[in-house]
Amino acid sequence: MMIIHTVADLRKSIDYSKSVAFVPTMGNLHAGHLDLVAKAKLKAECVVASIFVNRLQFAPHEDFDSYPRTLDEDAAKLSSVGCDLVFAPSERELYPVSQTVKVLPGQGLSEILEGEFRPGFFTGVCTVVLKLFNCVQPDFAFFGKKDYQQLMVVTNMVSQLALPIEIVGVDTKREVDGLAMSSRNGYLSAAQRAEAVHIYLALCKMRESFKSGQPKEQVELEAIRYLSTRGWSPDYMSIHLAQDLVASPPPFYSEGLQFVAIGAAKVGSTRLIDNLHF
Ligand code: PAF
Repeated sequence: MMIIHTVADLRKSIDYSKSVAFVPTMGNLHAGHLDLVAKAKLKAECVVASIFVNRLQFAPHEDFDSYPRTLDEDAAKLSSVGCDLVFAPSERELYPVSQTVKVLPGQGLSEILEGEFRPGFFTGVCTVVLKLFNCVQPDFAFFGKKDYQQLMVVTNMVSQLALPIEIVGVDTKREVDGLAMSSRNGYLSAAQRAEAVHIYLALCKMRESFKSGQPKEQVELEAIRYLSTRGWSPDYMSIHLAQDLVASPPPFYSEGLQFVAIGAAKVGSTRLIDNLHF
């Protein structure tokens, strides 16, 4: 496996006679990321993963500085699952001048949920993802469904900008108790880690209550109350149509429609997100 730090070397190293799959990451890899690589390997002859902590998607009060940088461990993990090439540019390499040209994902999808609580987040994500796509020029790109809204925003960007890339969403990997794998789980103390599963349990309860006939609004309020009572600070716990997060879903469950219960909440100072499709 090659580890490459510059765009010029990357362009020289990829054999474009082969199909190329790309897995963008911010490093500090866990089994969920490795599963993206495994799925990418099934789809293409060459798998490229990137490791880059993207300043543009962090607000000033967020964890850009403390985000774990673990390149050596990450490279060993990627190599163990057969990744062909790791692109790990420095900030100076990817943003040699201030990145004033940005991708605005537009009104609607990027302004709700994560976009409401993390203004500018999706502009940062789309800008780096498009730039990485231009560096790697993959045929396929793999994103985890834990960041379901991100997957939808990137899919929309690719479609609206007519990029010749197939976006593939991969199911969330969970710990034994159900907690979605996330690099940010590493911030949790032992007590917080034990508590963290309750965001998943709250989503399971939302699914169960909604499917058994409770109105959407009540289900959402109960989930917020459940987590708040346990000491969490929830941003949102809400039910949407899975294929259109912006559309107003029906107030009651309806067979034949695909829903997603989606949430974000802080346990201590660690913000976790998760979602369940049903
Ligand atoms: O999901 C992530 O890790 C990041 O948002 C991504 C897609 C690598 C862009 O920085």
